[in-house]
Amino acid sequence: MPSTSLVVPLAEAHFHQLHAVLDEVAREKRYLAMLQAPPREQTFAFLRESLSNRNPHVVALLDGQVVGWCDVLPVFGEARRHVGTLGIGLVRRARHRGLGRALLEAAIAGAWVKGLARIELTVRADNHNARELYERLGFQHEGRQYGTFQVDGETFDSHAMALLRDGPR
Ligand SMILES: CC(C)(COP(=O)(O)OP(=O)(O)OC[C@H]1O[C@@H](n2cnc3c(N)ncnc32)[C@H](O)[C@@H]1OP(=O)(O)O)[C@@H](O)C(=O)NCCC(=O)NCCS
Repeated sequence: MPSTSLVVPLAEAHFHQLHAVLDEVAREKRYLAMLQAPPREQTFAFLRESLSNRNPHVVALLDGQVVGWCDVLPVFGEARRHVGTLGIGLVRRARHRGLGRALLEAAIAGAWVKGLARIELTVRADNHNARELYERLGFQHEGRQYGTFQVDGETFDSHAMALLRDGPR
């Protein structure tokens, strides 16, 4: 039977599975700044705050199971109220079937509806899959950042990327 995939807004019912998804992606140690999920209660508190802030925060479902997320979170400072920072992840078995693009498109649309004008992100330089997907969706490179990630004694660079609501500069 073909599998059914769907991108929906985050809801409290997703919290348990989303915590496991976050932990699985973090433990790959190749993509995220965190190398394991924070404890469950801490993750749930973060997710509850995201819901109450009405952040663009969506999850991907594959056959009814949470397999990924994309969020655009506020950054500090009144002068940066128009900016959000993007995070995304899918468990390995859910990649390369268009869900990454679907998650990004939903979160980006939500960000513009919320009134944001700039979405920024940091992607590890060796994460070609994510970088290419961001480029396809219009994110611009804003520069290489040196020595930004350290995992198991190895140091990695990253790229700063951003998408502007009103188009490229
Ligand atoms: C980055 C990430 C979210 C991208 O998601 P994804 O689902 O793999 O992305 P998509 O499927 O939308 O697109 C990726 C590829 O799948 C291809 N694809 C899209 N739909 C497809 C389908 N139905 N069948 C087969 N391939 C498909 C795309 O063409 C693309 O291929 P290409 O890169 O060879 O051109 C995912 O790889 C991931 O979670 N990675 C680990 C976490 C991570 O890197 N987070 C970002 C940190 S900055």
